[in-house]
Amino acid sequence: MKDIDAVEEFIEKQVYPEPGQKAKSDYRNYDNPGRETVRDFYRENHRHQTLEFVRARRAEFLQLNRQKMSPFEALDFLNTLVDDSDPDIELDQLQHLLQCAEAIRADGHEDWFVLTGLVHDLGKVLCLWGQPQWAVVGDTFPVGCRFNERVVYSEFFSENPDSHDPVLSTEPGIYEPGCGLRNILMSWGHDEYLYHVMAPYLPEPALYMIRYHSFYAWHREEQYAWLCDDHDRAMLPWVRKFNPYDLYSKCPTPPDWKLLRPYYEDLIAKYLPAALAF
Ligand SMILES: [Fe+2]
Ligand SMILES: [Fe+2]
Repeated sequence: MKDIDAVEEFIEKQVYPEPGQKAKSDYRNYDNPGRETVRDFYRENHRHQTLEFVRARRAEFLQLNRQKMSPFEALDFLNTLVDDSDPDIELDQLQHLLQCAEAIRADGHEDWFVLTGLVHDLGKVLCLWGQPQWAVVGDTFPVGCRFNERVVYSEFFSENPDSHDPVLSTEPGIYEPGCGLRNILMSWGHDEYLYHVMAPYLPEPALYMIRYHSFYAWHREEQYAWLCDDHDRAMLPWVRKFNPYDLYSKCPTPPDWKLLRPYYEDLIAKYLPAALAF
């Protein structure tokens, strides 16, 4: 889990800093102890996220027949991954979700939006089923077409065999331009996975937030317009609205989970079944 935290902190502080704040220089040159971890992480990610890899993971996981869990159990389950030697880490996943949800609630948004904040990273339970971290977190991007150079550490895509495939290396690749994001395959990770878990239960904007929250090349860098249709364009503002809560909602006094739990139990019960299929 340490690597996951390093990767997410990297995205937040060095690649996409809070508006008005400057990134800590070019992230590629930035001198910090976690840099090698993050670089290695993206190298593995970009090297291995091929069209074939994504198809295989979808076949493996999207039947959703692994485990039935309530959202609370999923949170607890995520925490079983915790390294015992570091007592702080245990709270990190839950705290991130809670702070994100509380920040959305404090701004007076609708309750399904608050719930989205609470659950958006539950797909990280993939780590517990033997998925390497590079196949769980990090920026996501379409596979099956040319990799975009605005994806973080895009230079590592040269090590991905799809970059040298005569079809997959073309801009449209296997896709019809304008076909819509729901008709393409994204790199495999917690976003796409949780989208499928939540698809029957949450409103469409919530599902877009979950499915594309790590697709920075789209919602932040304005790439991949050629793949989008009207529906994607209508949903993009929601994905953008969610992003600051995901990245910048850390607060100095952590919310008290015990105090808040009754509110979130009711909220979960309003939208989600007692047991979710993972
Ligand atoms: Fe996430
Ligand atoms: Fe998150």
